[in-house]
Amino acid sequence: MQGISLSLLTQLGIRYPIFLAPMAGITTPVLASRVSEAGGLGALGLGAGDPFQAEAAIRATQQLTSQPFQVNFFCHRSTPLDPAKSRAWCEYLSAHFAQFEQAVPAQLLSPYASFTDSPELLDVILATRPAVVSFHFGLPPKSILQVLQRAKIPYWVSVTRLSEALYAQQQGCSAIIAQGIEAGGHRATFDPLCDAGLSTRELLQQLAPQISLPIISAGGVMTGGQINQLLTQGASAAQLGTAFMACRESAASDQLRQRLSTAKSTQITDVISGRPARGVIGRWQQEIDSPIRPPHAGYPYSYALAKQLDKIACAQGVTDYQVCWAGTGVTALRPLDASPLMQTLIAELQ
Ligand SMILES: Cc1cc2nc3c(=O)[nH]c(=O)nc-3n(C[C@H](O)[C@H](O)[C@H](O)COP(=O)(O)O)c2cc1C
Repeated sequence: MQGISLSLLTQLGIRYPIFLAPMAGITTPVLASRVSEAGGLGALGLGAGDPFQAEAAIRATQQLTSQPFQVNFFCHRSTPLDPAKSRAWCEYLSAHFAQFEQAVPAQLLSPYASFTDSPELLDVILATRPAVVSFHFGLPPKSILQVLQRAKIPYWVSVTRLSEALYAQQQGCSAIIAQGIEAGGHRATFDPLCDAGLSTRELLQQLAPQISLPIISAGGVMTGGQINQLLTQGASAAQLGTAFMACRESAASDQLRQRLSTAKSTQITDVISGRPARGVIGRWQQEIDSPIRPPHAGYPYSYALAKQLDKIACAQGVTDYQVCWAGTGVTALRPLDASPLMQTLIAELQ
């Protein structure tokens, strides 16, 4: 392992450069604690919940382990709903609702707030003091970062290109998560319309000589051998999401596990949530993301509609609209629980 790698691990007080990716709707206190107990860094994806849910999850994890773990929030720039776009998007999806004899909603609401607009989430962090807080889609304003600095709570942000990494460095992040195009879930780009589309390896190659912070590589990493390669190329650790989705300790439903186990390939689309995200190809990618579709209703308003359609469909036994975020490595998914998966990754790493 590289010197810089040891220094990040030493800072955190953990043994292995194997980090669980925070995944909203998938990571659980049990999953996070198992990874941390095995010597990696556990994580909670708390971006889609409210402050009460966030506090409950952090405290539950702290009950399960005294080892460090990461908590994660979405930091998108909130935009007001565009009523005309929203109506057009609802109308476009109305036939899909109609097949279940349901009317499409007349208007859309945001299903969750950005961290920046929710001071209660900052209070939760200050009250619970997780080892690290990380952000997706950008960083909160300086005033919030200064509160974290004063409280001595380190913060990280996911980046997808050099300019975002340089900004993160300037804003006092203590490490950066370098997310390649192979990654499952949402692209971390600060601006959803501006994506350099760099692979995990290309991004690391660009960042390693320019960035003095520890780099945590994410995207398409499924084995200890791949982690080793990234460490050799300058990463301090790797963050794995898809690899942990099938663990019994994750919150994935039986239907989702079924989709993951039979997945052949993934694709990025912005029609589900309103921001580009990679998932297993299904009806959203094949049919709804048509070249002649209207513009979607924006993030996270479109997501509210997608979640409603999936709920209605599932209630009638149809899983076609299920959102199955996953990275390009999904076909290499190993159906192991968290502790044996960690042991396997550690053995491969050594
Ligand atoms: C199901 C799923 C949900 C995700 N949710 C989040 C999230 O809430 N916050 C976040 O920062 N990243 C999220 N991500 C992205 C991961 O942090 C990470 O970039 C990605 O999982 C790495 O690629 P991999 O899935 O190929 O390992 C999610 C990824 C997946 C697969």
